[in-house]
Amino acid sequence: MAVLAGAVLTLAVAAFLFTTHGAQGPLLRADPDALPADTALFQSAVRSGKPLFAAHCASCHGDGGATPVPGAANLADGDWLYGAGRLSEIEEITNFGIRAQRPRTWSLADMPAYATPVPSKREPLPPLTPAQLRDVTEYVYGFQHSDADAAARTRGATLFQDTAGCYDCHSSDAAGDSSIGAPNLTDAIWLSGDGGREAIAAVIARGMSQSCPGWWGRLKPYETRAIAAYVYSLSLKHAGPT
Ligand code: HEC
Ligand code: HEC
Repeated sequence: MAVLAGAVLTLAVAAFLFTTHGAQGPLLRADPDALPADTALFQSAVRSGKPLFAAHCASCHGDGGATPVPGAANLADGDWLYGAGRLSEIEEITNFGIRAQRPRTWSLADMPAYATPVPSKREPLPPLTPAQLRDVTEYVYGFQHSDADAAARTRGATLFQDTAGCYDCHSSDAAGDSSIGAPNLTDAIWLSGDGGREAIAAVIARGMSQSCPGWWGRLKPYETRAIAAYVYSLSLKHAGPT
């Protein structure tokens, strides 16, 4: 009797392992960027990723990734600070984070603090005077607001394109650079603040260097991939990566 019960138990455990690991193998073997095209596998990954996201990511990015705490990114708007929103890129960030004090993390540029004597430790950039800060603020503010002061904007544009070095990270058209995580300054999407003069001026004066933790070693590889699939699914209603 005991032998039979033992055999039944072993079979039950084997069946359980088969069903739980059954979906994990194909998920891990898949090319992450080809995953969305495999509807059944993708949908099952999105289903497993949802509760994992709620447990590990929603505290900063909000429920469904769309209501981030100030400074964290909205993950559901189809606008990406880093890369183009490919599943492999989201998985890379989930593993290694952003400015996360660990190897392979994204940490290529920080926003300098222009009201301090040494705005950036990484490159020689001049501090700005309060008047220059106002001008360059007006330049950025003017992309989304029609009440910007035109003369101040013109002076600010010169600072942006020249002395202050803003163009170097945010591009000369101010539309950002997703290879280093420099945000687009011409749209209405703000990492921190409401895009008003005070909020813009505060970032330029004090700098900004937000971090996202990395989960390598803390989540299992199939969990990370499932979370990445879920995050990818959040922005599908937008144009999506190219
Ligand atoms: C402690 C807060 C915190 C937690 C927890 C957190 N993040 Fe982040 N995350 C951030 C911040 C802050 C940023 C913006 C970083 C920046 O400004 O460069 C970010 C950015 C990102 C980005 C880049 C978005 C873009 O537009 O390119 C992705 C993707 C991301 N997080 C995914 C995740 C996932 C997945 C989890 C859970 C496994 C997670 N994050 C957990 C704070 C957090
Ligand atoms: C060395 C690269 C670098 C330079 C130079 C630089 N920035 Fe930035 N800037 C960044 C990065 C990176 C971020 C995002 C930081 C983060 O995510 O934590 C940022 C963020 C910002 C933000 C906040 C955007 C948002 O969505 O909240 C504004 C505004 C801004 N920069 C304006 C400027 C202006 C104006 C200048 C020149 C006076 C400038 N930056 C120079 C890299 C740079």
